[in-house]
Amino acid sequence: MALAFDQPAPHGRSLTLDIDRVSHAYDLGDRLLPVLDNVTISAKPGELVALLGPSGCGKSTLLRLAAGLEQPLKGELREDGVAIARPDPDRILVFQEATLFPWLTVRRNIATGLDARGLLKQEGHRIDEVLKLVKLEGFADAYPHQLSGGMAQRVAIARALVNDPKLLLLDEPFGKLDSLTRLKMQNELLQLWQDVGFTALLVTHDVEEALLLADRVIVFSDRPARIVAEVVVGKPHPRRRDDAELIGLRQNLLEQLGVAHDV
Ligand SMILES: Nc1ncnc2c1ncn2[C@@H]1O[C@H](COP(=O)(O)OP(=O)(O)OP(=O)(O)O)[C@@H](O)[C@H]1O
Ligand SMILES: [Mg+2]
Repeated sequence: MALAFDQPAPHGRSLTLDIDRVSHAYDLGDRLLPVLDNVTISAKPGELVALLGPSGCGKSTLLRLAAGLEQPLKGELREDGVAIARPDPDRILVFQEATLFPWLTVRRNIATGLDARGLLKQEGHRIDEVLKLVKLEGFADAYPHQLSGGMAQRVAIARALVNDPKLLLLDEPFGKLDSLTRLKMQNELLQLWQDVGFTALLVTHDVEEALLLADRVIVFSDRPARIVAEVVVGKPHPRRRDDAELIGLRQNLLEQLGVAHDV
């Protein structure tokens, strides 16, 4: 299962994710709160799909379902044709905040998943590989409080990658970062995705980010989230922010999100 990071392995470890007519609701005690309404998305191996939608519409819920942390009320989610029944290191969720253990070094933070699975001895060499991938070779022994926000988020991504996931579920991973760090991290994510080859769902509020990174952008309605638009971005990487076609798509997506197109 080891992946040689020094050899490009495009689409080596990836999967097909099928979200098939999924509806979900939360039980609030006195009533049900519907959050997803008949959502169908199919992501091909190695595809990066961005999810855009109003705050509170149900995007994080959809990622939790894909991670296997919850079961949908209706419909089914499948990994390579098999129903997703529980969390699995093949499918890893990365949150907006790095959520590192403050009392552990960077190396120990990255090691926790391997350690819990009893793979530390066998796969521990991967920690140095992923640290290199996220450009933090020199920080293995640092503690989280010694890191900037961008570095902490790189550690969180390294902690996900060390498991060699087939599916990365990214929940606004750069949402808390300043705009320059964000631009840098977008390029780094793109590089990682091209080098490693996982399938990815990327939740973002940033239309430009979605268009720069994703193969496909899906727009959700207000809660309960249903798909209101789907845009295929046919441009090769690297993409330019000032690309006329992308600017056109941006206006289109902003309109779908109900934002005036001259903003
Ligand atoms: N465990 C839960 N129990 C009850 N309600 C929940 C639970 N988790 C989320 N919700 C509700 O479900 C709705 C969708 O939440 P979710 O976090 O999926 O939205 P989101 O699209 O990710 O929003 P944001 O863009 O602000 O992160 C919200 O109204 C939220 O209050
Ligand atoms: Mg969310």
